[in-house]
Order: sequence, then structure tokens, then C-alpha cells
Amino acid sequence: MALGELREERRRFGPVDGVARCAKPITTWSRGENLAVPTASPCGRCRSQPLVCSEEVSALLPSIILHNVVSLDGRMDWFTPGVGLFYELASRWQEDATLAGSDTILGAGEPVPEEDEQASEPTPGSPGDTRPLLVVPDSRGRVRIWQYLGEQPYWRGMVSLCSRSTPDEHLEYLKERRVEVIVAGDDRVDLRAALEELRDRHGVKTVCVDSGGTLNGVLLRAGLVDEVSLLVHPSLIGGISPRSAFRASDLASAEGVVPLRLAHLEQLQGEVVWLRYSVVK
Ligand SMILES: NC(=O)c1ccc[n+]([C@@H]2O[C@H](COP(=O)([O-])OP(=O)(O)OC[C@H]3O[C@@H](n4cnc5c(N)ncnc54)[C@H](OP(=O)(O)O)[C@@H]3O)[C@@H](O)[C@H]2O)c1
Repeated sequence: MALGELREERRRFGPVDGVARCAKPITTWSRGENLAVPTASPCGRCRSQPLVCSEEVSALLPSIILHNVVSLDGRMDWFTPGVGLFYELASRWQEDATLAGSDTILGAGEPVPEEDEQASEPTPGSPGDTRPLLVVPDSRGRVRIWQYLGEQPYWRGMVSLCSRSTPDEHLEYLKERRVEVIVAGDDRVDLRAALEELRDRHGVKTVCVDSGGTLNGVLLRAGLVDEVSLLVHPSLIGGISPRSAFRASDLASAEGVVPLRLAHLEQLQGEVVWLRYSVVK
């Protein structure tokens, strides 16, 4: 999705001014007519609306929701996702943090202006700011558009997840840009440790993942995902390249299969079907 397009949709549906969220609570979402499945019931102790309440998941980890638009065969390419619908639904989780893959950020498609060394830094969000944090795992220090990202209105702050292999020069750049850094892991980012740190530092309880299959795959294989939300686009793509919503090494045994429980089924506009599953743990 192009950043410009994303920006427009976030402006319409997202938490741009810190309060503008979709007001429709999960309990009123329509349920699939032919399927008697329970709708989600937030426990009341948290303000978020994931299927699995973060208070009940773990005292240490936020609740992690994967949210993607896919073709019927689970691919993410060769069709045009309805980004308005995508972000309207995503905004309902009222996540504390958006976890975006570095390749998603870098591949957003919009030409990004050169960073201006003299430009003033974006003002950090105020204490009552309810916009999510933007969090990007970027162990190799490839994301160099933080100034631009900081100028976007969707996030109250930015966190770069680095590892002990991230070049010092990049850490210096992040410091100059006043981008918060969490260092976790030796080579790639240790996502479990980074998520624990996010919870400790910022009280992050709900994380919505906006990424491609690679980050999804790492999170799923690590057992960190609580909910999978898929907007199934009416198309079949085929192919053998791994452009699917769950990219990971082949399993050696059925033990690694991630069992899911269907929690919500709904037909939306444009013949898109919305499926929400909780991960059985
Ligand atoms: N259809 C949809 O709903 C949707 C939504 C979002 C994005 N997309 C598309 O998805 C595509 C990009 O997806 P992608 O799969 O190529 O990349 P991605 O998931 O956006 O980025 C890969 C991320 O995984 C991290 N990573 C990789 N291996 C890791 C490991 N072993 N441990 C910890 N972290 C690890 C990388 O961190 P490092 O940088 O540290 O390696 C990076 O942050 C784009 O075309 C985008 O448009 C589609």
C-alpha cells in the first residue's frame, strides 16, 4: 500500500487526532448468519478489543493480532486490497502499538523526501495521546526515513527494534532523530524480549501487526500470536513464490501446526470475507 493512500485512509478512519477512533464496539459487530460462534467479549479489565484479552494472555507479553488482506489462497500479491476497509477494521482494536515489518515500511511505494538535517524533530505525543506507537524491527538498520515517518499523524511515537548486530552508525542516526531504540537479540531482533520491554516501558498491551508474511511467520513460529484476522479477497493467485501471509521454513513435523479457533465470520463489502481466529495455546 502506498503511504499516501495509507495516510488518506488513516485520516478517515484512524486515530489521527488522538481521539478519533471507530466508535463501533466489538459486541455489536454482526455475526455470520449461518455460523453460531461466540462473539468476542473483552474482559472489562482492558480497554482493547482483541479476542484474547492481554490481561489473560501473560503478565509479561502484550496481546498480538495479525491483520492482513489475503487472496483465497493466502497470498498478498496481484490483487488490490481495499485499504479503507482494512484500516477501518484495524482501528477498532485501538492498539497501543503498530508493529510494522521493515520491508513493509520500505516497500510502501511512495517516494520519500531526503532527510533534512536541519528540520525540527516531531513533537512527541502528549500524555493523553491515544495514538499507537510505531514499532519496526530493523536489526540491519535499513530504515532511514524516520523523520518522514515522524511527520505522519498516525503515531504518537516511534520505536526502532534493533539487535546487538545493528551498526553503531545507525544507532547514532536514530539518536539524532530521537527515535527510541530497544536492543534485543544478537543477530535479528529477539521479538519476545522486545515485546516484554515495550510492555514494561510503555504499558503496551495490544499490538496490531501490519506486515507481510515474513514478520508474521517469525511471530507465529515463536508462539507469540494471539489472534489472526484475515480479510479474504475474492481472488485466487497461485504461484510458487512465498508471497503468502505466513512465510516460514517448512515444518519437520505436525507439531508446529498453529491450531486456530474461529471466532468471527462476516461478509463485508466487495465480497470480502472477514475471518477472525484466536490461536489455541
Ligand atoms: N496484504 C496485507 O495485508 C499486507 C500488509 C502489510 C504488508 N503487506 C506487504 O508485505 C510485503 C512485505 O512483507 P515481507 O514479508 O517481505 O516483509 P515484512 O514482514 O514487512 O518485513 C520483514 C520483517 O521481519 C523481520 N525479521 C525477519 N526475520 C526475522 C527473525 N528471524 N527474527 C526477528 N525478526 C525477523 C525483519 O527484521 P530485520 O529488518 O531486522 O531483518 C523485518 O522487520 C510488502 O509488499 C507489503 O506491501 C501486505
